[in-house]
Amino acid sequence: MSTVQQHIKEAAAYIREQKGVEPEVGLILGSGLGVLAELIQNPVSIPYTDIPHFPVSTVEGHDGELLLGTIHDRPVVLMKGRFHMYEGYGPEVTAFPVRVMKELGVKSLLVTNAAGGINTSYEPGDLMLISDHLNMTGTNPLIGPNEPELGVRFPDMSQAYSRKLRQLAKEVAVSQNVVLREGVYAGLLGPTYETPAEIVMLRTLGADAVGMSTVSEVIVARHAGLEVLGISCISNMAAGILDQPLSHDEVMETAEKVRTKFLDLVMAIIPKM
Ligand code: HPA
Repeated sequence: MSTVQQHIKEAAAYIREQKGVEPEVGLILGSGLGVLAELIQNPVSIPYTDIPHFPVSTVEGHDGELLLGTIHDRPVVLMKGRFHMYEGYGPEVTAFPVRVMKELGVKSLLVTNAAGGINTSYEPGDLMLISDHLNMTGTNPLIGPNEPELGVRFPDMSQAYSRKLRQLAKEVAVSQNVVLREGVYAGLLGPTYETPAEIVMLRTLGADAVGMSTVSEVIVARHAGLEVLGISCISNMAAGILDQPLSHDEVMETAEKVRTKFLDLVMAIIPKM
């Protein structure tokens, strides 16, 4: 067995020893949805620092713990604190927790994020189902020797975001009277927001929203054979669309405003995933 595989198994074994649930759904939630952690029932919290070989988050305000528990009786594992490449992590760092989730028995992954709206028919506060992505990070978490036990050398990405799970999300949204847009997410490295020229480029390339996370996690999830559902909160219009500068405060404020709508949607989707 390779060192990586051994590390995945050791991390999973430690997590199992903490006597949480056997998770079926994995959750990686972006800005604003961290509060979902408080809605998990019978939570068992495991700090990243206690898990063998687990990466540790460095950013202020990111707690860095894995939570096991249930949401409407569905066993889940939630990453509280995520790893962004702009923090200096290589894309493979994002790979490890997703692979550990797979080892724990997870079959499907929900990823959410805050994103800038590129499609001019969008408005801040909109929710967007991710139909596909553009990996604009210039790198890939699967670079290096492939380990066949973890997945194939050349993974198919033609349905990176599961059609079935998207259909489910649409049905739940209709039942809650929530407007759910659907579009392409462009994942960039950051940490700068884009220039107006870059936004014109991304729109020309077919992007509807832009952010600094998600793509590497989804690539690894697909490599591992997990079904993926992705939802973006359009927290601001991307650079150059409105005559105003972008700020992280605006991103957080919008995320806060739509939190209840976003949470209700996600909480209703998870048990059906
Ligand atoms: N650009 C990139 N990432 C983002 C944005 C944006 O406009 N808003 C929230 N995350």
